[in-house]
Amino acid sequence: MNEPAVLEGRNLWKEYSSGVVALSEVSLQFVEGEIVVIVGPSGAGKSTLLHLLGGLDRPTRGEVLLRTESGKGQISLYEVSESQRAKIRNRQIGFVFQFYHLLPEFSALENVLCPLLISGAPMKKAKSRAEDLLRKVGLSGRQDHKPAHLSGGEQQRVVLARALVNGPKVLLCDEPTGNLDSKTGSCVKDLLWDLARKEKQTVVIVSHDAEMTERADRVIHMRDGKIEATHSVMKGSTR
Ligand SMILES: Nc1ncnc2c1ncn2[C@@H]1O[C@H](COP(=O)(O)OP(=O)(O)O)[C@@H](O)[C@H]1O
Ligand SMILES: [Mg+2]
Repeated sequence: MNEPAVLEGRNLWKEYSSGVVALSEVSLQFVEGEIVVIVGPSGAGKSTLLHLLGGLDRPTRGEVLLRTESGKGQISLYEVSESQRAKIRNRQIGFVFQFYHLLPEFSALENVLCPLLISGAPMKKAKSRAEDLLRKVGLSGRQDHKPAHLSGGEQQRVVLARALVNGPKVLLCDEPTGNLDSKTGSCVKDLLWDLARKEKQTVVIVSHDAEMTERADRVIHMRDGKIEATHSVMKGSTR
């Protein structure tokens, strides 16, 4: 591999203040455009790993490296200031987490607009981009609804649109279909794959969903805060 990894964890350790060691010695790399699924029993450290990789929580030891926007070098996510890290998160990393985290007092459109406005996009441009993404996730007719007036699946599609609105290189998803019925879950999955493939995004998904592990480029198995095994998925005629 000549070009630097889009995202990389080096020797990551995480010990919470409670004394729980949630991750020990985890090293992994993600290249451009790959979709990786992480599986493992509850408590294995999957969510902790995503938080560390996303710049949301500092590792006790080790580092997280993100490819720079120019694509030439890498930046060590916890060696920059908190405000710099927030800026990097906003522009380069999209989050689709299990609990929606939508702002309840804002409409779907306003929720999707937020990251764009934070990154300094002019309102008119931001609005058309947000509307475009809401159309792509099939929600143009619902854009003025507040989260409470949307179904679980619709809320998760708003979360997806919001995660993608800044065109992030990396998308981190923690059980993105965990609390959706299977039909709605399939729809969110299809959208995720379509949009990520189109934009050559690197996607890391924590999921127990067999369909996701089948469709992934690579599956990482975690247990007790460690990577137990990794395997590439053979692309055959079943897709
Ligand atoms: N904020 C926290 N404070 C203390 N312990 C935590 C915290 N978050 C997770 N843990 C513990 O760390 C371990 C790994 O948790 P987690 O990363 O949530 O695993 P998973 O997502 O695989 O279920 C568990 O033992 C969990 O109880
Ligand atoms: Mg978890």
